[in-house]
Amino acid sequence: MTLSFRRWLNAWSASVALVAAVTGAAKLLAGPTAVPGLSVLYLLAVLPVAVVWGVRFAIAVSVASTLAFDFFVLPPVYSLQLTDREEGFSLAVFLITAAVVSGLAARSRRDAQESAQLGREQGALRRVATLVARGAPPAELFAAVAAELGPLLGADATGIARFEADGTATVVARLGHRNDAMAVGTRVMPEQVGAFGAALARGQSVRVDDYGPVPGHFAAVVRAEGVRASVACPIAVGDGLWGLMIVGSRRGPLPAATEQRMAGFAELLGIYAESRGRLMASRARVVAAADDARRRIERDLHDGAQQELIALTFQLKAALAAVPAEYHELGVELNSLADGMSGLQDELQRIARGIHPAVLAKGGLEPALNVLARRAPMPIELNVAVEERLPERVELAVYYVVSEMLTNAAKHAQASVVQVAVEVHDGRLHLSVCDDGVGGADPARGSGLVGVKDRIEALDGVTSVQSPLGAGTAVKVELPLEPVL
Ligand SMILES: Nc1ncnc2c1ncn2[C@@H]1O[C@H](COP(=O)(O)OP(=O)(O)OP(=O)(O)O)[C@@H](O)[C@H]1O
Ligand SMILES: [Mg+2]
Repeated sequence: MTLSFRRWLNAWSASVALVAAVTGAAKLLAGPTAVPGLSVLYLLAVLPVAVVWGVRFAIAVSVASTLAFDFFVLPPVYSLQLTDREEGFSLAVFLITAAVVSGLAARSRRDAQESAQLGREQGALRRVATLVARGAPPAELFAAVAAELGPLLGADATGIARFEADGTATVVARLGHRNDAMAVGTRVMPEQVGAFGAALARGQSVRVDDYGPVPGHFAAVVRAEGVRASVACPIAVGDGLWGLMIVGSRRGPLPAATEQRMAGFAELLGIYAESRGRLMASRARVVAAADDARRRIERDLHDGAQQELIALTFQLKAALAAVPAEYHELGVELNSLADGMSGLQDELQRIARGIHPAVLAKGGLEPALNVLARRAPMPIELNVAVEERLPERVELAVYYVVSEMLTNAAKHAQASVVQVAVEVHDGRLHLSVCDDGVGGADPARGSGLVGVKDRIEALDGVTSVQSPLGAGTAVKVELPLEPVL
């Protein structure tokens, strides 16, 4: 049984019951000398019908009321015959009054519904705007928008997708789906996006009222979801297209105002994507500038100070060889000076490596982390399950984090072993550094942990530090290989 049929049946049952009840009451009140003015009692039946089911039902009930009043109450009873023109006139006045009153009642009900809907819409927009202003993480914002759109638009399924540079689209949020064909993270291929994408790129929303005859992969996926109709709306950033929002209905076409209602949310998402994109780009620039500076310093140290020091050490050794045997003490002095200079060379090399490790640029993560592990004063169990080279900023960030964590473990943890694991799956890098030391790490007490968090956030990643007292310290980092927004 469809919903509208049920509604229709309810309306008729209620109308018949109301007209019968009012007729009974009118008959009791009227006695044998009923007056046509009593028909006004039927407004008690017409009004509730007008408010709940609308004006068309109310007019039908008005006509039924007039007939029931004439037939059952007005003498001669059980006949539709009218005794005089006055009676006919009274019933006509009742009909007109009932029609006008039901029109007004239905309209005020519509107004009340519209203002309630507007209130709900504004509430939802306000909640989303608060998340945008707070700079909430993308996943949280997208999920919130998908959750708001469903109940607000009477949609059964909602989704948000982001267009990628290669013409594909990635599903970033969805709700109310029955299967996993369009799970979050799914890449939708350009040919699947099809004409949909082209219309959205022109800034137009796309409405499909019946997926039945629509060809193509996307329509097939939608049909498999049981969705019959949808409205998709572009999310624009400046003049470009960032993504799309789509709502679907399993019952039939969505109301005409759906596009307009979605537009406010699309605008907020556009503002969010634009400002977050700018923020991420500027953070990435800050990190890249710092990395450039470190690279420059490392080169200057290597090519300048280090080379000079090597040359000086050679000269010193040459001078040492020339010292006559009787100047034994001078020889000893010069010898210790040469040793000091060799030590300084090592120290300089160590500093240069810490600033910007050449081995990382040359060999990638595994050899660079091996160097860090060898240098550490405690045993390190290193497990790097990454064979390919990763983007430079990602490799640098991992190196930076591991270096800081191993230094921390050596300085503060009294650990007997530190486990370092790096792996990549689903386009994200996962790093963990866990020691079995004293725990109690607190970012507020230094700048190392805060620096790690800032650096990872600049790459749109997340850091978690768990360090219960006496139970070791685990630092976990997760970051996308490609920037997300
Ligand atoms: N692995 C660890 N085990 C135990 N305590 C730790 C560990 N790592 C950090 N801590 C504690 O947390 C504090 C903050 O660490 P953080 O790295 O931010 O600063 P720091 O190492 O003291 O100084 P720096 O700014 O040079 O890194 C440390 O001072 C230390 O008390
Ligand atoms: Mg530290």
